[in-house]
Amino acid sequence: MSIDQVLVAGSGAMGSQIAMVAALAGCTVTVYDVDAARVEQARQHLLERMDAQVTKGRRTREAVDAAFQRLTATTSLADAGAVDLVIEAIVERLPAKRELFAELDGLCPARTVFASNSSSFVPSSMATATTRADRFLNLHFFNPALVMPCVEVVRGPDTASPVVEACLAFVERIGKTAVVLDKEIPGFVANRLLGAVRDEALRLLEGGYADVEAIDTAARTALGYPMGPFELMDLTGIDIGYLTKTARFEVTGDAADAPSRTVSALVEQGHLGRKTGRGFYTYGPSGDRTGVTDLADLKGQH
Ligand code: 3HC
Repeated sequence: MSIDQVLVAGSGAMGSQIAMVAALAGCTVTVYDVDAARVEQARQHLLERMDAQVTKGRRTREAVDAAFQRLTATTSLADAGAVDLVIEAIVERLPAKRELFAELDGLCPARTVFASNSSSFVPSSMATATTRADRFLNLHFFNPALVMPCVEVVRGPDTASPVVEACLAFVERIGKTAVVLDKEIPGFVANRLLGAVRDEALRLLEGGYADVEAIDTAARTALGYPMGPFELMDLTGIDIGYLTKTARFEVTGDAADAPSRTVSALVEQGHLGRKTGRGFYTYGPSGDRTGVTDLADLKGQH
């Protein structure tokens, strides 16, 4: 079972970079999104990133041009189903994911493996929307997917071993490092570790012990993290963590699983991090950091 043709559903930061990584590795990749404007925006970002890579001597112009030749986009799922692997990277909402997989189940040939990039939703919660639970698993990439080496390969209770093996070969082919989870658990490994740090950072902030910059500086300079927890939430999207925690809270009802009041206030005001120009920090048009958000001004605070 060889994976050469890939459909990536969703052209956000994750979907577009996952698609680029696969195209750079020689796969034929189609990106599906309902929103043609978003696809075009993603293509522009990728062109800029790849131009920078060529300028820095990281990749050759020929390799980048060839990868873009292998990368196409569509707004019609019906055109896109005849692939070896689907990687879903749409909004972190379970009903939307189940609906997409159910539709793909009717469109894709029996050989197609279905993978979700979700970290909130375990394989079994989506596989039951299809008739191919044995060919369903999660392939969880990290932001920025062009850079971060790890891909968590998460087996559901029914995932067949040859499917896992094929996905491990795919992960190796695209130059990433696989971490296999033999049993599903929400958040998998890396996000559970990260979540513990993020929750503690928010507790320290909301308790008035230290501000955003101080906590980020401690993470970087005392622990050697490449980014502090608030810088990282701004990079990954504050809404992603919010939706993940909301989904977990809906299942457990445990207050510790609910999004923090600061995160909720930022999301309610549309301050989602770098992608909206403001999160815990503020950013200029070219993405450079310009300041720190005054959290006391947010509605719903204190
Ligand atoms: N997209 C693509 N490439 C990017 C990028 C982005 N948003 N940001 C930086 N890069 C590239 C740069 O082009 C550069 O490439 P090069 O080495 O080929 O020149 C390389 O990354 C290093 O960038 P910089 O020198 O500008 O900056 P840093 O050395 O600070 O690295 C970073 C940036 C790689 C983002 C680093 O800060 C880092 O590793 N941060 C932590 C990221 C992290 O923890 N990710 C996991 C998040 S959790 C997650 O994704 C789970 C999901 O479920 C939410």
